[in-house]
Order: sequence, then structure tokens, then C-alpha cells
Amino acid sequence: MSSSQATNGPSGNIDALLQEHRRFPPPPAFAEHAVAHDPAVYQRAHDDPDGFWAEAARRLDWYKTWDKVLEWDAPWAKWFVGGELNASYNCVDRHNATWRRNKAAIIWEGEPGDTRVLTYRDLYREVNRAAAALLDLGVKKGDVVAVYMPMIPELPIALLACARIGAPHTVVFGGFSAEALRDRINDSGAKLVITADGGWRRGNVVPLKETTDAAVQGAPTIEHVLVVKRVGEARPVEMKDGRDVWWEDALAKASQRIVEPEHLDSEHPLYIMYTSGTTGKPKGQLHTTGGYLTGTSLTHQWIFDLKEDDVYWCTADIGWVTGHSYIVYGPLANGSSVVMYEGSPDYPDKDRFWDLVEKYGVTILYTAPTSIRTFMRWGPEYPAKHDMSTLRLMGTVGEPINPEAWMWYQEHIGHGTCPIVDTWWQTETGMIMITPLPGIVATKPGSATRPFPGVEPAILDEQGTAVPRNSGGNLVITRPWPAMSRTIWGDPQRYVNTYWSKYPGVYLTGDGARQDDDGYYWLLGRVDDVVNVSGHRLGTMEVESALVSHPAVAEAAVIGVSHPVKGQAIVAFVTPRAGFKPSDALTVELKEHVVQAIGALARPERIYYTAELPKTRSAKIMRRLLRDIAEGRVLGDTTTLMDPNVVNQIKQQYESSEG
Ligand code: PRX
Repeated sequence: MSSSQATNGPSGNIDALLQEHRRFPPPPAFAEHAVAHDPAVYQRAHDDPDGFWAEAARRLDWYKTWDKVLEWDAPWAKWFVGGELNASYNCVDRHNATWRRNKAAIIWEGEPGDTRVLTYRDLYREVNRAAAALLDLGVKKGDVVAVYMPMIPELPIALLACARIGAPHTVVFGGFSAEALRDRINDSGAKLVITADGGWRRGNVVPLKETTDAAVQGAPTIEHVLVVKRVGEARPVEMKDGRDVWWEDALAKASQRIVEPEHLDSEHPLYIMYTSGTTGKPKGQLHTTGGYLTGTSLTHQWIFDLKEDDVYWCTADIGWVTGHSYIVYGPLANGSSVVMYEGSPDYPDKDRFWDLVEKYGVTILYTAPTSIRTFMRWGPEYPAKHDMSTLRLMGTVGEPINPEAWMWYQEHIGHGTCPIVDTWWQTETGMIMITPLPGIVATKPGSATRPFPGVEPAILDEQGTAVPRNSGGNLVITRPWPAMSRTIWGDPQRYVNTYWSKYPGVYLTGDGARQDDDGYYWLLGRVDDVVNVSGHRLGTMEVESALVSHPAVAEAAVIGVSHPVKGQAIVAFVTPRAGFKPSDALTVELKEHVVQAIGALARPERIYYTAELPKTRSAKIMRRLLRDIAEGRVLGDTTTLMDPNVVNQIKQQYESSEG
């Protein structure tokens, strides 16, 4: 692995110059008032991690205090053993019991420009009504509820209602296809799915109900479909008698009923979040209650330097883990005011985000490098139209940020002075793991800097030995942390194999990293067959199995290649079946086929046809060689290939089509 992989941005030279050399210490005025300002916290957490996390857990309200902080029988962790609490209570009731009842909890804007502000009291009322509706529909503690919704307030309300009655939710991002939704419903055994008649995206309706209808055919566990009316007349939907229920009717029936939060064990399942791995089937990561809420709320407060009067906006979709941890659970547990936006950043024009920042006085902004690169392409004139002087801290997540984008973000969005927190974490980790604490740690553009207190990473070579400074290796986490995924839903063995087998008792992240002379971490991207397209994770095997399910395809190999805006893009090499000829029409059809199987986020950027794929003698496809071809690198070792000529043929074809 070479360290040059760390920069995937459009201008490698500037990036190389900036890297390592630029340091941005916390601005003194910022550091002085920072929530986390004492550097000794790192040592304290290191010396007594259980004590550190126990102190953190006291930020929550517990019905019953834990008997033991951590029970660790690698890889099985139990946090705050014997403790009882409820996430919905911690995110809603306890704020409703204080002056915060009149504080804005959710400041929402729909894409067409409609707005809603829910105070903590409003949230309390709606969550109770939704919980009552769920109970009326026969959902009980332990039942799984699938959620396939647009970014409207009913989405966090639905999640908190589930949490209130102890029904784990599984949110499926609204961009996933019917097939993808069906797979997740069937894997989780969900009983109910909550959706909407549609959501707004670039002025069009995303037909969520229709997709849900298609998904539910072939999902025998689903008893009811609960439908929020969002777009109404713009897209009338069919309601199936006995199965489909309007959200507003169900809540009206529930009236003003109060549903007492279930007293749940600390390890009670809070949610399942599916994420792509190295096999064809996404894995359901199980997150539980006490540890997860402790980890997300502490990291949210410290890393984003959260103060009572902050207006916090994370631009992610709640369909991803970022939205779960840093729109819903962390921020609401902290009683903060959270901005939520339904639609696209370029609707009606390319300054929509900056318009929102100005309008609501956003103080903390958390977004993705791919979005920042898109804004760069659109030009600084869009943010320049708005007064964004309220911003005081900004974050990034999802992929390594190239230093040029980092600098642009600070200059054009953060008026030259906002500290930036580059936060490294994963669906599996549940919470941010490597990041600066903005009042303590000097940042370097492109580096996620240091582990959060209490988090113990290491970088290991193939034998499990720690690599020296400035060498790349496998990023691992050597100590359990409270928000860690507990297992893969329904497949504990896979959890063991995927994360805990390469180095027994140590968590394998799947990312490469190196540490510089100052000990700062530089993330180098995935080292497994996972690609990161616009901050979204996709397994190459997942896309391959979608392709081979098309009658024209005999075999397919999929790789990620560098892309100036998306970070990585999907390129597929396809061997057609006898009788099928490569053509532009087939390419269009295959791309569409992948969209049907997974969703638009998986649409291959390019498809190449090849008579054969490079394989080892044991018939394993060597994606590494395809990556070398696509990135124009010298071909790696080809001696283990069944037929070494195959790569040369593909290379010629690739280069001639690149023209
Ligand atoms: O490769 C890393 C990259 O995103 C992966 C996790 O993806 P996902 O589970 O979808 O979660 C995304 C949001 C937490 C990681 O394995 N990644 C995420 N954040 C960063 C990152 N790579 C470098 N720097 C980051 N800040």
C-alpha cells in the first residue's frame, strides 16, 4: 500500500504539498471555551478505560444502574451489564421534563420550502402517539420494524417510537431498490414497514410507497405497512385493505395516549443497520442501547463542541449510520437543536445548503467530502451569496478528505477560521473513533488525527506486528468500545469471521492507515473488496451478483476506481454469455439492471466487455490486477494467473476505449 493513496482528490500536487506541512492549532478563542479542553483526558481514558466510559454513561438517565461496566469475552462484549434504560426516554422525556421542553428539537425544511419546527414537547407528544400506534398495530417489544422513509420529521419520530417500546428498527435508505428493501426485510424478519407516499428530490417525487409495495410482495413477515402522507395529490398511492394504514389515521386513533417507555436492558437491541461487505449479501449490524447511546452522545458533545445554543446540522440521510448516530441518537440525547433537510443541495439552485445555514443560523455543520468536492465544482459564488458567519465548527465523514477540499471547505464555507473535524468511523463502530477534539488537537488537512479518548487503534502488518511510523498497514481496534456492533443479525459466525479472525481478539476495520511522525492517523481507504462511492459503501461482490443475475452475463468483476468527485466510482468487467454481443444498448440495460437490484447508488460508471477475466489457478478473480489496469499502474504479480495473456488483452482494450 502506498501513502499516495491517501489523496484521491483532483489535484494531487497541491495535496502532496499541503499534507504533513500545514497544521492548524485550535484557535485560542475556540480552545478557551471548548467543551473538551483538557489534554489530560487522553491519558486518563487510556489508564482507566472502564472508569472513563462509566463516567460517560452517567450522562444518561438510567432506570437501574449497571453492575459491571464491561463484560468482554472476545469478540462478545456487554456494556453496562445489568443496567436498564430507554433511548427514547433519554432523547425526549428527560428534556421535556426541563426548560428544554420549549427548545427546538428538530428544525425541518422540506425540499419545496415547507417548514416545521418541533420543540422537545412536540417531539414528546408525537413520539408517544407513534408508539401507541405501533402497539395498536400489534408491534411488541423485540419485533423488528423496517423503515423506508424520506427525510421528514416522522422518520426520527418513528425511530424513537420503536425505541420507546423496545422494537428494534432497521432503516433502509430511500435510494435502495425494492429488491434491496425486500432482502433487508426478509433478513431482519420485520413485521411492519413504515414508509411514505413519497418524498421530494430535485422537484420530483421519489415513489417510496410503490417501491415498498413491490418489496413487500415476497416478504411474508410483513403484517402492516404504515404510510405517512408527504406528497399527497402529487402522487396518489393505492392502499391495500387490511394491510396498509395511514400514519395520520393511526396516530389520530392513538390520540394523546402516553406510552410509558419500556425499561430495557442495556444490551437490548436498538437497531439493525445493513452495510456492505465483501460478500454478495449485506450484513445487519446490531447496535444495542446503553453503550451505543453513551458513545454517540459523548462523541457528539465533545467532537462537535456542543453548547446549549448551538444549531447543529448533519447533512447525512437517516438511512445511513451517520444519520442514526449524529442526527437522531447522539444529538437528541444531548438535547440539541437539529436541522433536517429533505431534498437535494441543488434545488431550486446550487446554494440551497447555504441558504439553510443562513436562514437557521447553523453553527455546526457536518457533511461529506464528496459533497464538498461537488460544491467546489459548482464554484465559491454560491456560498458567497450568503451570510454564514454563524458557523463555528465543521466536520467531515465518509471517506478520506483530500487536503485541497479541506482547504476549500475552510476558506469558502468556514470563512477561513472554522476548525474542521475529520471524523473516521464505520457502521460497525457506531460512533466516531478517530478525530480531533477541536479545542485540543491541532488539525492537518487530510488526517483524521488522533483516536478519541478511550479508543485504542493500532496498525498491523499481515503477521500482526505493529508497523513502524510512516508505513501502511491494517487499521485495527484493540480494545472494545461501548458503541461497537455486537453481532451480525442472524449470523454471529460471520461477525467472528469478518472482524475478529485475522487477528484474534482484535477488531479488523478493513481500512488501511499509517501514522506520521506526530502519531497522526492518515486513512488510506479500504483494503478489502469494498468500494466507497460518494461516501456510500458497496461490496464489489454485491454488484457482481447483480450483474450475473442478468441473462446476458456469464461472469462479472467489479472494482472501484478513483473519481474526482465521488472518491471512487464503480467499473465493471463483464464476460457476456454465448449468443450475447456487447453493445451500447446492453451496457444501458446492464446498468439499469444493477439499479433495479440494488439502487441508483450502485449504477456502474463504466462497463467493459472481455472474453475472459483474470483468474488464479484456483479460479479466483483477481480484482487487484483489474484495479492496476484501471488506475494505469504497472501490473502486479501475474505469475499466479491461470492465463497471463488475459490481463494484457483487457489492458489493451481498456486503454483503447479510454482513447
Ligand atoms: O473506509 C472508511 C470510510 O468509510 C468506511 C465506513 O463506511 P460506512 O460504514 O458506510 O460508514 C460511513 C460513515 C461513518 C470506513 O471503513 N470512512 C469513513 N469516514 C472516514 C473514512 N475514511 C477516511 N476518513 C474518514 N473520515
